[in-house]
Amino acid sequence: MNPRRILVTSALPYANGQIHIGHLLEYIQTDIWVRFQRMRGHEIYYVGADDTHGTPIMLRAEKEGITPKQLIDRVWTEHKTDFDNFLVSFDNYYTTDSEESRLLSEDIYARLQAAGLIEKRAIEQAYDPVKEMFLPDRFIKGECPKCGTKDQYGDSCENCGATYSPTNLKNPFSVISGATPIRKTSDHYFFKLSDPRCESFLRDWTQVSTPLQPEARNKMREWLGEDKDGDGPKLSDWDISRDAPYFGFEIPGAPGKYFYVWLDAPVGYYASFKNLCQRLGLDMDAWVKAGSTAEQYHFIGKDILYFHTLFWPAMLQFSGYRTPTNVFTHGFLTVDGEKMSKSRGTFITAKSYIDTGLNPEWLRYYFAARLNASMEDLDLGLDDFVARVNSDLVGKYLNITSRCAGFLVKTFGGKVDEAALADPLVERLRDAAGEIAAFYEAREFGRAMRVVMELCDAVNAYIAQEQPWTLAKQPEQAAKLHAVCSIALESFRLLTQYLKPVLPKLAGQVEAFLGVAPLAWADTCKPLSAAQPVSPYSHLMTRIDAKRIEALLTANRESLPGGEAAGADATAAIEPIAQEITIDDFAKIDLRVAKIVDCKKVEGSTKLLQLTLDLGEGRTRNVFSGISSAYAPEQLVGKLTVMVANLAPRKMKFGFSEGMVLAASSADDKDPGLYILEPHAGAKPGMRVR
Ligand code: MSP
Ligand code: ZN
Repeated sequence: MNPRRILVTSALPYANGQIHIGHLLEYIQTDIWVRFQRMRGHEIYYVGADDTHGTPIMLRAEKEGITPKQLIDRVWTEHKTDFDNFLVSFDNYYTTDSEESRLLSEDIYARLQAAGLIEKRAIEQAYDPVKEMFLPDRFIKGECPKCGTKDQYGDSCENCGATYSPTNLKNPFSVISGATPIRKTSDHYFFKLSDPRCESFLRDWTQVSTPLQPEARNKMREWLGEDKDGDGPKLSDWDISRDAPYFGFEIPGAPGKYFYVWLDAPVGYYASFKNLCQRLGLDMDAWVKAGSTAEQYHFIGKDILYFHTLFWPAMLQFSGYRTPTNVFTHGFLTVDGEKMSKSRGTFITAKSYIDTGLNPEWLRYYFAARLNASMEDLDLGLDDFVARVNSDLVGKYLNITSRCAGFLVKTFGGKVDEAALADPLVERLRDAAGEIAAFYEAREFGRAMRVVMELCDAVNAYIAQEQPWTLAKQPEQAAKLHAVCSIALESFRLLTQYLKPVLPKLAGQVEAFLGVAPLAWADTCKPLSAAQPVSPYSHLMTRIDAKRIEALLTANRESLPGGEAAGADATAAIEPIAQEITIDDFAKIDLRVAKIVDCKKVEGSTKLLQLTLDLGEGRTRNVFSGISSAYAPEQLVGKLTVMVANLAPRKMKFGFSEGMVLAASSADDKDPGLYILEPHAGAKPGMRVR
């Protein structure tokens, strides 16, 4: 087999937030594929970097009172630690704020300019006269032009769903200073995607010459539009410059103008690779210049498809570089069927997962078991996660060695019976190598895992049938016991090879225990040898305790206020304090401690929970509360809370509500968290709050 030469990337995470399990889906997917290719003996390099430029990072640093450089250095270390913890094996992890990045961006830009594909044009944009900067759309808020809801972003209304442009907002304001934006003109540089050369290149690249996933290809066809008459560019030119102040690279020959972050971000792939090539003495041009015979793959999420299948290939094509061999796009991660949510605690950071003492290889295995080559979203079902890892990894895979290794070591000095290894079961396992490899290659990891688990089942069935523990009690059966344990351990060796791209650390421990060299794919035909005895078995992996998952959710719920997760916001203002009242006004409100004796979901409502509350009145009260987004009923049963006890009963669609429980929330719609009140220990139902 000729070794292939392969360059692989994952998307570069922004340097203003923590790595979370959504990100990890991508890095783990890529890493599994890369490790598989390494085991195949190919020359493969996996590079990444932090994506460090742009307005949000600039403002974030300002808010923290540090320089952007200090911010991105700190975040780089955090990200690198997370990736190391999850065994993501980048050959180089770099930054887009590097000299390599600047030089490559300038080079590509200069070549596009020489090709006549850059145009300068004056455009009018929203400008913050107080902060003295142009405002990206997401830094402008105002009232929805359709329904009048306050505090809406410049692109769409969260209340009525209307979409519009920031200029349509009523009473718009800058999120940064609160000032009313004005319109201001400035020169911008555009990449002329509307040029017929670009359009015909992209039509061919996306529809004919690149084996994009079918969903991706269809999306691109939509974006490109039908070219019925063959005359018409349908793409708009791409604005690649931003005005100062901006954290990024200044455009050569255009003082005060900076490359837009999405221009230098994908260039960051090459910058990281360049840095690696310098270190390893590789000839970079042979990999990245037009005509290269190396392969180049980008793993990305579906939200950034456009950048990777339009802008990036076009940039490369018209500046003398090769274009990607393919772009591998995955869907989004949901948790228990819903978008990751800070209030539910399912916005799980990589760090919190490690800090809670969970094993990264559990998550790697679960993702592998659920991943396929499509762009569909993928759900992390938390109960399913626990059940699947415990049953597959501990109950099936590790069970094989824990039942057989002891006998081999104790009775046979750890040496296998080599002659016994020509068994049909071992044969069957060896024959599966090709099928499993094909599934890895095609990114059908779920199917690869299914085949491996079926093989584990077959081996366990064999052990159950041969009963080594019974054989061990019969001295005359020693030869049989030796054969059975040898077959089981050779099977275990093969299964470990097949799982190694997913479980590299565990595989390393198994290699040490079996006394074999690091397993590569060609080792399928290199069975265990009696010359290298197996060491005494030590425990390799524990089961997941479901309590740890609870702790994980709690950790992520608690880390919300003021934490990294909430930090990206430019505004930190609280809701204005209400009009003054007297103590007598306050006394009219009868607040009582109440015990939540029961809590249910309300059929037909996504908002409401139905609470049964005990105030010690000798009867219970029925209260509907709009807290379903924040709490599962079982979280609340048995807890104390505070309610308004003298509120007039109100007839609602689902019945009478006899009071109201108190919950804290933010007026900022970016923080949808709801937190119900709970008295300190010792409070009793019925006590008045005053
Ligand atoms: N900085 C850009 C990428 C530049 S690539 C030249 C960016 N960064 S990101 O931090 O927002 O996302 C990094 C990657 O993580 C993207 O591919 C994105 O799709 C992926 N994911 C972020 N959240 C995700 C989920 N919830 N689920 C799956 N992937 C997710 O975009
Ligand atoms: Zn609206």
